[in-house]
Amino acid sequence: MKKLYIKNFGCQMNEYDTSRIVEQLRVSRGYQRTDMPEQADLVLFNTCHIREKAEEKLFSELGRLHKLVATARQAAGQEPALFGVGGCVAQATGEDIFRRAPYVRLVFGPQTYHRLPIMLDRLQREDGHLCDAEIAPESKFDELPQSQEVGPIASVTVQEGCNKFCAFCVVPYTRGREWSRPVADILQEVRHLVAQGAVEIQLLGQNVNAYQGMDSSGLTHDLALLIRKIALLPGVERIRFVTSHPADMTDDLVEIFADIPQLCTYFHLPIQSGSDRILQRMGRGHSREAYLEWIAKLRAIHPDMAIASDFIVGFPGETEEDFQETLRLVEQVSFDHAYSFCYSARPGTQAATLPDPVPSQVSTARLALLQERLNFHQLLRNQQRVGHIEEVLVEGAAKKGSGELTGRTPGFRKVNFPGPAAWIGQIIPVRISEGLPNSLRGHALNSP
Ligand code: SAH
Ligand code: SF4
Ligand code: F3S
Repeated sequence: MKKLYIKNFGCQMNEYDTSRIVEQLRVSRGYQRTDMPEQADLVLFNTCHIREKAEEKLFSELGRLHKLVATARQAAGQEPALFGVGGCVAQATGEDIFRRAPYVRLVFGPQTYHRLPIMLDRLQREDGHLCDAEIAPESKFDELPQSQEVGPIASVTVQEGCNKFCAFCVVPYTRGREWSRPVADILQEVRHLVAQGAVEIQLLGQNVNAYQGMDSSGLTHDLALLIRKIALLPGVERIRFVTSHPADMTDDLVEIFADIPQLCTYFHLPIQSGSDRILQRMGRGHSREAYLEWIAKLRAIHPDMAIASDFIVGFPGETEEDFQETLRLVEQVSFDHAYSFCYSARPGTQAATLPDPVPSQVSTARLALLQERLNFHQLLRNQQRVGHIEEVLVEGAAKKGSGELTGRTPGFRKVNFPGPAAWIGQIIPVRISEGLPNSLRGHALNSP
């Protein structure tokens, strides 16, 4: 049986794509996934272009793996493996990849991977390279087989691409324009995932709350309405959605938290900066004030709402005062979780041409300060869970040898606690006894 090694970089949407690629190559061409690259006939990288570091990491890892695989296969007297690069770097740089890594024979984009079996057939017949990274006119989702390997938490991409063109961001160029999947397709996929054992459904989109999909009668649904429909499907015990954009918020998306018991009390709402001046330069389309109002509404509708965000420090022109505004916002909101990055200039984006770059030592120092405060609040918010009973969806065994289980609360906090493997895939009430920097600990209320 032919073997596939696939390495994933980037966001949850890429992870979702990777799982669909694995399934498709298994069903249509009999590839079995392996964790050992030296055993693979086909080596694929699903890549991320969001920051320069991600791109650098890709080429160093690609070179390292190529050497390892080539040596191992030569020693075993096997044909060389086929190397392919997909995802957002492939979309952004296309055939350039062949110049930087000549042993790569295949380049495909995030919107063309449904054509992979045909591309592979061609490369088997013919020598040379193949680049297929057009934004496809047809929907890849119509062409793909359904997933078979499903865990307790399963993802469904409902919206792709982005029209916002924030000054720093490559996503509109790598994923294309905003596009929403039809309601019926999503409901069908959710039904299938539940039948395969999924308990929690995560709806994914670059701007998931920009969702505007049609049902079969031609009625447009926003995300809140889509969630209402999904909640009616039997077996869907939990629903979560990521990532939302502050400029696409609606009151209905807040109110559904009071109406839909399956909806997890977790809201990922990136703000990037606490300074109105920087938000404007970034082209985010909302103010600090408007953001804080949405946070207040979300906490008013549910006191346990976990709020997560993303930050960029060192955006061109960011002054010390702008940065202090970001720190003040962090103290004001007390985020449950956040991702934070130094600004990375990306080719083709508007910010790459802006004056007043922030020196990298300054950005690095700001990031360290910001992360110290974000970590403080994350720990604080975790510690505030002590004594509460949390509904934990058990995902699997915790670290090897601990004999414990690990799962997620509705606020997406990780909880480790003792319990039998039979609980995997179930929602278990757990009394929280300890709040740690990145997780909680506790004990199940009922013995098995
Ligand atoms: N659509 C989401 C974010 C998608 S990109 C939103 O608008 O909030 C994920 C995160 O990567 C962003 O929130 C931002 O914090 C970070 N990011 C994107 N481009 C970046 C860049 N050029 N440099 C540093 N971080 C960046
Ligand atoms: Fe990028 Fe902005 Fe679109 Fe988010 S909203 S994906 S940051 S362009
Ligand atoms: Fe990266 Fe593409 Fe996701 S650039 S963050 S993998 S949409």
